[in-house]
Amino acid sequence: MTPSKRQPSFNAARTLDFTHFSPMNSLPTTPGPIDHPPLSGGGPFTNALNATIAFVGGGNMASAILGGLLKNGFQAHNLHVIEPLSAPREQLRQWGVHAWEAPEAFLSHADLVIWAVKPQVFKTAALSVSAWTHHALHLSVAAGITMQSLSEWLQAPRLVRAMPNTPALVGLGQTGLFANSNVSASDKSLIEAVLQSTGQWLWLKDETLLDAVTAISGSGPAYVFYFLEAMCQAGEHMGLSSEEAKQLAIGTLIGAGQLASQSAEPPSVLRERVTSKGGTTQAALDVMNQAGLGEKFKEAMWAANHRAKALGAEFGS
Ligand SMILES: NC(=O)c1ccc[n+]([C@@H]2O[C@H](COP(=O)([O-])OP(=O)(O)OC[C@H]3O[C@@H](n4cnc5c(N)ncnc54)[C@H](OP(=O)(O)O)[C@@H]3O)[C@@H](O)[C@H]2O)c1
Repeated sequence: MTPSKRQPSFNAARTLDFTHFSPMNSLPTTPGPIDHPPLSGGGPFTNALNATIAFVGGGNMASAILGGLLKNGFQAHNLHVIEPLSAPREQLRQWGVHAWEAPEAFLSHADLVIWAVKPQVFKTAALSVSAWTHHALHLSVAAGITMQSLSEWLQAPRLVRAMPNTPALVGLGQTGLFANSNVSASDKSLIEAVLQSTGQWLWLKDETLLDAVTAISGSGPAYVFYFLEAMCQAGEHMGLSSEEAKQLAIGTLIGAGQLASQSAEPPSVLRERVTSKGGTTQAALDVMNQAGLGEKFKEAMWAANHRAKALGAEFGS
């Protein structure tokens, strides 16, 4: 790793994320009701709150998880982050966590290492860290990087892959998880304790399903924002102010989401209920159907699925 060569890329989005999660302001509240699996307890991580956790990469995903850990009572002095950029490092230090420019011997005390770097730099980062962390449980959130690559680069037996999404920043994320066979029930308890404040998760039986999770929920927020953008633009073209259009579009999305989540009916039935024959909704849906929008959406998600697989092949071992 050559931190000195890095140009600061501390963008507005990341600044916003850190501000949002500053423990000195308010940490995200855990939304309810959320159907978390119970923590199993027992094993070496009965008290997950005392675990020593090292993050490799201190960007968006790491800050979302870290913010939740601090809110949920994990000890800041047990939390370490390796982050080559100085601006996020300084911000992290204000949270009370240890922020390091490069890997160092503290890593040998880590119970859990969380990999939150881009797939493109994963291998380089892994090779610089692995000598200290064979004993640790590893959790990777990198899209596409397979168990096989992780195993080869980290030379560590206990590996978990996760595919989170950015609503984790507000405690409403969805995370798909896959563990290899060396991961114990107490290891899984620690992972669940770490993810507790980020939203919901599900453990998958097959690693390849992580590509489906990537396509649906990992990349999903962008599809929703895309749709929101179109709704806001249409509202403005019809004469609403941008604030009015935004309120109506976002409020509708949240309301429809809540309705779908609380209803026993599938989305298709909920859609039919708002679509009276010859009415306004029907007119809009006719346009969408004529354009083949539903099929295009599915095609788009398959493209994301294929890209997740390709990333693994491109940046894997
Ligand atoms: N954001 C999402 O929606 C999302 C969803 C699911 C999964 N993920 C996964 O989460 C991972 C992180 O994404 P992100 O959005 O948090 O990215 P990010 O904001 O760019 O954060 C990654 C951080 O890691 C730093 N870094 C680069 N090389 C490093 C090294 N060798 N050692 C330590 N840190 C290093 C980067 O610094 P530089 O800027 O200098 O490179 C950057 O600050 C990715 O693998 C992505 O696939 C993201």
